[in-house]
Amino acid sequence: EKAGYKHFMMKEIAEQPTVVDRVLDAYLDADGSIAMTLPDVDFTKVSRISIVACGTAYYAGLVAKYWFEHYARLPVDIDVASEFRYREPPLPEGTLAVYVSQSGETADTLAALRYTDGKASRIVSLVNSAESSIARESDVAVPIHAGVEVSVASTKAFTAMLTTFAVMVLKAASERGVMDADTLAGHIQSLRQLPGLMSHAISIDGELARTARKVAQSRDVLFLGRGQMFPLALEGALKLKEISYLHAEGYASGELKHGPIALVDKNTPTVVLAPHDGLFEKTVSNMQEVMARGGRVLLISDAKAIAATGGGVWRTITMPDAPELVQPILYAIPAQLLAYHAAIAKGTDVDQPRNLAKSVTVE
Ligand code: F6R
Repeated sequence: EKAGYKHFMMKEIAEQPTVVDRVLDAYLDADGSIAMTLPDVDFTKVSRISIVACGTAYYAGLVAKYWFEHYARLPVDIDVASEFRYREPPLPEGTLAVYVSQSGETADTLAALRYTDGKASRIVSLVNSAESSIARESDVAVPIHAGVEVSVASTKAFTAMLTTFAVMVLKAASERGVMDADTLAGHIQSLRQLPGLMSHAISIDGELARTARKVAQSRDVLFLGRGQMFPLALEGALKLKEISYLHAEGYASGELKHGPIALVDKNTPTVVLAPHDGLFEKTVSNMQEVMARGGRVLLISDAKAIAATGGGVWRTITMPDAPELVQPILYAIPAQLLAYHAAIAKGTDVDQPRNLAKSVTVE
């Protein structure tokens, strides 16, 4: 059932191009129009979105916040479920509540959903199982079509959540009249490119494995990302700590000098997830700050950005060029592979990491 792979995690990483294809087939028509139906959700009447989730699903929601705000001009609040539910936040009129959960059974997420019942204008969930409690108790359950995920460390569910969110964001943007038809068509084309780009990223596996073996020799690892790549830094750190038990922290690149730079030394690799974009120069200066303190930078980026770094970087992983919208989905793959191979190097139980359960149904 592992289809020739040693671990479910690797099998599920490798499945991602197929999963993304499936999500796109479910939510886009062949003519390129959006086929996602969200009954009684009128994005012209939504004034604000509240996203709530835990763990990796929370990081998917955090990417969606950047997207909804940037592409659909909709303000988004995001919370981890355990904080949201006890804080009892007010929900202003026109709030669309969105819950994200692979299992659909996470106790804190379900409790948060129950809290918003009757307060939110509509409750939408992104779930992997239509029969789950979270699916049943929401007004609209949107399946992420990841298929069964066995590995405790979530991989394909994360990219399936992101792909589902991407279509939802485009739908919101076009309904709200803030994205013209040509731009929309361009983004849909970008999404359609994604499975091929992901296969390319998966083929970098051997190089990532060699790098991961080096990373696995350190005690602490920093992950940096900015803008829509910031949540990927958090996800990369979470994945690494979950399965390799290395201590890892994800930060927004700009936060480096506000504290975490104190951790930098020659034994602490800093993984920078940064495709070339308008802010890449700022990232270069963050990397220089790390290198000036003897830190080793692992830059995961595209050829253009790697050429613009000016040298001094410890290692680079060259990713294919990708349109901006799909970058966070694509860059999940090297983050997952890095964690996977670090865990292999450490000899840990990849699919069943200590102290963790696949579905957290206790609070
Ligand atoms: C990460 C991981 C956890 C889950 C979290 C939420 O690899 O597995 O952080 O993402 O427990 O689970 P769901 O999505 O089932 O609500």
